[in-house]
Amino acid sequence: MARGEEPLLVQRPSSEHSSDSQIAEEDALLTGQPSPRNEASSRYRRWREIGLFTWALLATAAVIILATLYQHQQTEGRNDDDNDAGTPLGKRNLIFMVSDGMGPTSLSLTRSFRQYTDHLPYNDTLVLDELLIGQSRTRSSNSLVTDSAAGATAFSCAQKSYNGAISVLPGSFQPCGTVLEAAKRVGYMTGLVVTTRITDATPACFASHVRRREMEDQIALQLVGEGPLGRTVDLMLGGGRCHFLPKGRKGACRVDSTDVVKVAEEKGWNYIGNREGFDGLKLGSAVELPLLGLFADTDIPYEIDRRFDDETYPSLEEMAKTALKALSEATRDSEKGFFLVIEGSRIDHAGHSNDPAAQVHEVLAYDRAVSAVLKFLENDGTTGIMVATSDHETGGLATARQLHPTYPDYLWYPSVLANTTHSGEHIASIYHSHLSSLSSHSHSPTERSSDALRNFLTTLVSRTLGINDTSPQEIESLIEHPAIAEYTFADMTSRRSQIGWSTHGHSAVDVNIYSSDARAASALVGNHENTEIGEFLRRYLGVEDEVEKVTELLREEMDLLSESGELESWLGGVPKEGERLDGQDHLGRYAGDFKHKRHAECDVCGR
Ligand SMILES: *[C@@H]1O[C@H](CO)[C@@H](O)[C@H](O)[C@H]1NC(C)=O
Ligand SMILES: *[C@@H]1O[C@H](CO)[C@@H](O)[C@H](O)[C@H]1NC(C)=O
Ligand SMILES: *[C@@H]1O[C@H](CO)[C@@H](O)[C@H](O)[C@H]1NC(C)=O
Ligand SMILES: [Zn+2]
Repeated sequence: MARGEEPLLVQRPSSEHSSDSQIAEEDALLTGQPSPRNEASSRYRRWREIGLFTWALLATAAVIILATLYQHQQTEGRNDDDNDAGTPLGKRNLIFMVSDGMGPTSLSLTRSFRQYTDHLPYNDTLVLDELLIGQSRTRSSNSLVTDSAAGATAFSCAQKSYNGAISVLPGSFQPCGTVLEAAKRVGYMTGLVVTTRITDATPACFASHVRRREMEDQIALQLVGEGPLGRTVDLMLGGGRCHFLPKGRKGACRVDSTDVVKVAEEKGWNYIGNREGFDGLKLGSAVELPLLGLFADTDIPYEIDRRFDDETYPSLEEMAKTALKALSEATRDSEKGFFLVIEGSRIDHAGHSNDPAAQVHEVLAYDRAVSAVLKFLENDGTTGIMVATSDHETGGLATARQLHPTYPDYLWYPSVLANTTHSGEHIASIYHSHLSSLSSHSHSPTERSSDALRNFLTTLVSRTLGINDTSPQEIESLIEHPAIAEYTFADMTSRRSQIGWSTHGHSAVDVNIYSSDARAASALVGNHENTEIGEFLRRYLGVEDEVEKVTELLREEMDLLSESGELESWLGGVPKEGERLDGQDHLGRYAGDFKHKRHAECDVCGR
């Protein structure tokens, strides 16, 4: 321990002789020959060495005794099973929570919103606020602004990679073993709970390896155990059913005709595909592992919309409780506990949409899931910890906005968000349905007139956003650009509440780190690289060595597949000439983007 060594170095005795002997040592090092010296001097040196040795021995013993006393004092009243880093030695559970796209401002926004709607005092806080321990720096290997794939690879592999990488590394494009894979192999039970597609970047990074995050069809196969390591996940709950259904099936989005649900069932997975099946799990007390629960074709609806459709979709809190109960029951008699990842996935989506009303409800839903995890840890007999962070911020959110060139207001209005009953995404889908009904049915000319459409939109906006002062420009924008109506609806709420956004993408601001146990997570107190969070996860579970073995295994497998030409379908092709997936293209070099991109349409609006 560094603390124990320090006094010896500091108190090294100095005398006029020591400088002589230092010179002699340096000579010997340079020439390879001991420097000549007379016998008397050598005898003196010998006694002096013995004296010094004895002194050093006594000093070291004293330091060790003092350090032990100090340690003892520090650890008094703590779990005796802990080692000096705070990591427990016995059976343990690790719950890693990710709030995708949630930056510090999301917390201020949501805290004030709840104080307003629930008439709470200004000092009322979210559950998360009480658990803050540090901040994470999020840049990826090829950009100062990370995406979720590189962000999650920092957690799963504890290494920086390029935007789009699903647990593969830059340069070599080789897979890296993940903490979840290693945990499974040494006997932990594992789980993934999300509100977006289970094949999306964050969950994918823990149990699959591909070179581009878009390869979700391939990710689905790897998640159920069709990858080189076989099955490494015991429980998956979330959305993204469409990547598990064969092309042509209702609700499918696979490009091939593989029935991944069938593949999974043949491998022993218990599959449920709806709320009824979920209710049958009895919040985890009636679960048979491995369990695959997919409750939406793509994303589970935003909480702001889901709360009106509770009969169809489970909440994040319910899924979290189910997973915790199921995994703790399944590991009750085992030596090892479980590793569970829970993601509040769509905080990010609300940021991409610049939709503050959708966002506050997402953060509140995440906060309730955090609360459920805390309650579980309090009542569970096994040692455990919850560590929570974000992969990055999304939207460049600001809780203030200057609407006019004159002096800015020092305020924002939660009441506007409180009057908004649905997400921009949901309202846009109502609008789009209306438009397609207009084009597909015979309607009278008055119904199809733009006046009728204006009335429709004015009423829709009043009913869903609670906005009665819609401007003609806003209505025209909705009529002219129906494809980005989701953004326009959200913008109407943002402007009126005086909430600002700087991008429909991600930003580089540091994000918060939270933990249920600041001492056990002391390595994450303060400001850290996101890769240090990954290092903490593997260290807490004690799987550092196993992760290296998994990496070796994956690379051997990769060599075999490379020889047989099947590597392409597993990992995705090596980038084509000129295509630099992991390049340094975005690192700080300005190339006139302001002009080039000023008028560009949002064509991907990707996440
Ligand atoms: C909030 O402030 C009130 C009034 O000052 C005080 O009574 C209450 O204890 C505070 N609550 C918290 C959680 O600090
Ligand atoms: C919210 O709705 C209430 C009731 O409909 C209304 O009185 C209030 O003015 C609205 N607030 C805002 C900011 O629009
Ligand atoms: C907007 O108009 C509707 C219908 O007249 C009314 O119910 C609602 O309270 C109004 N909202 C505001 C914010 O004034
Ligand atoms: Zn993300």
